[in-house]
Amino acid sequence: MNTALRKTVIAGNWKMNNTPSETKAMIAELRPLVADATCDVVLCVPYVDVFAAVEAAAGSNIKIGVENIHWAEKGAYTGEISAKMLAETGAEYVIVGHSERRQYFNETDKTVNLRTKAALAGGFKVILCVGETLDQRRSGYTFEVVRHQTAMALTGVSADELKNVIIAYEPVWAIGTGETATDEQANEVNCYIRKVLADLYCENCANATTIQYGGSMNAGNAAGLLAQPDVDGGLIGGASLKPVDFSVIVKAGSAE
Ligand code: PGA
Repeated sequence: MNTALRKTVIAGNWKMNNTPSETKAMIAELRPLVADATCDVVLCVPYVDVFAAVEAAAGSNIKIGVENIHWAEKGAYTGEISAKMLAETGAEYVIVGHSERRQYFNETDKTVNLRTKAALAGGFKVILCVGETLDQRRSGYTFEVVRHQTAMALTGVSADELKNVIIAYEPVWAIGTGETATDEQANEVNCYIRKVLADLYCENCANATTIQYGGSMNAGNAAGLLAQPDVDGGLIGGASLKPVDFSVIVKAGSAE
């Protein structure tokens, strides 16, 4: 983290978990546990839980987001939701390009770019996920993959809009596997992504951008990862479903 230059953001990604009533109960438990946080705290929830989440988080320091968004304003896109629809819910953040979307739902660099631009135009903050597979890492393509994914996703995104973008470096091999990148591996790639942003935009723009790490971040390893200078927060799946564990990560993100 480097809180002098950029915000630390600890975000949960609930994925396909929790009903609306479970959402209310979980946020009620989490609220007092993170009330003293000095970092930003975000929960990205399934669409069906958004209203319950916004209501349960009202008056707290917990911000609510969702896990995807469509680029069209409206139309015949069964199963999708638009920025305009989301705007009325009170959600403020949108995850875009998660590897599970890329792997299981044919998300491409092109659609990630369209979703990113639509979310930004709609006034949302984007958590943009990039990361290599195990094969790509083993073959030495990690940097190329994250550079390509980052550049493609940000095509047509202005430096001003970049202020509303958080990058989440999520090595696919570390997601939901219990295997985490080492502190140094996470920092190395985050630092590289910052270089990519400096090339695409400017050095100051890059230094001001929050770059999270995601991939089995948990209560035990968060402090080490977040102590790295280029790890500005976390995108947390499994551990975000356990309020106490998530609050330990938020505390680690509030350490500076
Ligand atoms: P995980 O998920 O923490 O369960 O590995 C992270 C993510 O997919 O965002």
